[in-house]
Amino acid sequence: MHVWGKKLKAVKVGLIGLGTVGGGTLNVLVRNASEISRRAGRDIRVTHAAAREYDPETLDGLENLDISDDAFTIVENPEVDIVVEMIGGYSPARELVLKAIKNGKHVVTANKALIAVHGNEIFEAARENGVTVAFEAAVAGGIPIIKALREGLVANHIEWIAGIINGTGNFILSEMKDKGREFADVLKEAQELGYAEADPTFDVEGIDAAHKLTILASLAFGIPLQFDKCYTEGIGKIEPLDISNAEQLGYRIKHLGITRMTPGGVEMRVHPTLIPEKRLIANVDGVMNAVLIQGDAVGPTLYYGAGAGSLPTASAVVADIVDIARALTVDPDNRVPHLAYQPDALSSVPVVSMDDVHTAYYMRLMVTDESGVLAKITELLGESDISIEAFLQKPSPAGVDAAAVAVLTKVTREGTFNAVLDKIKALPEVLSEPVCFRVESLA
Ligand code: HSE
Repeated sequence: MHVWGKKLKAVKVGLIGLGTVGGGTLNVLVRNASEISRRAGRDIRVTHAAAREYDPETLDGLENLDISDDAFTIVENPEVDIVVEMIGGYSPARELVLKAIKNGKHVVTANKALIAVHGNEIFEAARENGVTVAFEAAVAGGIPIIKALREGLVANHIEWIAGIINGTGNFILSEMKDKGREFADVLKEAQELGYAEADPTFDVEGIDAAHKLTILASLAFGIPLQFDKCYTEGIGKIEPLDISNAEQLGYRIKHLGITRMTPGGVEMRVHPTLIPEKRLIANVDGVMNAVLIQGDAVGPTLYYGAGAGSLPTASAVVADIVDIARALTVDPDNRVPHLAYQPDALSSVPVVSMDDVHTAYYMRLMVTDESGVLAKITELLGESDISIEAFLQKPSPAGVDAAAVAVLTKVTREGTFNAVLDKIKALPEVLSEPVCFRVESLA
């Protein structure tokens, strides 16, 4: 291919993993080769791959591929320019990526767990060796959210980010709400469609979303990656009754990752959240992801797209490969920094404890159906200056001597709310463990 009269050498890619994302990446690079080459200014060829198992029926371009079952042959191969790590998990992904970097290779990964937990070490190694580690596909699948944060919004102080960043969890919640399907049944379908993590507890317990939020928080605020400080709660406690209560109160329940800069530090939290149904993000359903970013100059911007799946994730992986191909001749110090901020300009601003987070609450209680019970609950809330925004009581079925009530509070401090919750739990009229979710207006 000729660009400005110069013939540029093809870039050779070594692919580790030929599963859902690795296979999709191969197929996109092969099928769209000519379009990608016109954009990149040179050919991009997958020449080597490593996989223990793969399905030849679903893969293109195998005839031009040297396939090994040993991933270390890829990172050691002097012919490979860019290593694309698509196996996921912490190990051996970490060892492979560090070895590739040491051998002077650029790396592209979709591995959010690896970046969230070992990213600081990996970026330092990349810096020492003058190579790039690109990870667009690690957050929100096909949405170019990392490019938006690192480049498109570079002018802004980021104030907060709220995102639906786990496709499997959103798919489960949407199917439960719209079709009344069972949790386990929807999860099985998400696994069959290739959305769920190898260990699906990562999806339902919020760990996958916490990996992604950790990355977003670092990119937004220029802080080192601190996965261990991200508060994480999954979707397992949400019952159909909560979904219908939320609807009646004018809200939708979404599993959100939220990061916010406050005077006390950075909030990093992943949990089910009631959001007003009129917000666009409240209407993001199925495997789709959406990330809402509030910048001081631009105001709110919303990014929407497929958060998981073979080709959407491959779209982001290939974008990274092309970015690297374009920047091969750029001085490493002039490349876009891994965490959006120059490495020596990262900040040590603390992550705030959950007790000091300010938010509103939804609380569902099962109480004895007798006079004075609600008065006791509202009195306890009032004593701590927690104001009630809305209240809902469903009529008890005939013969049942208990009432399900739901309370929405106004914004309060989490530590204050939890202290009152302990007192409410201790009331003899409260029959089971209250179920509480946070409420965010996202205004
Ligand atoms: N398991 C992840 C999800 C895959 O469902 O969002 C994409 O990171």
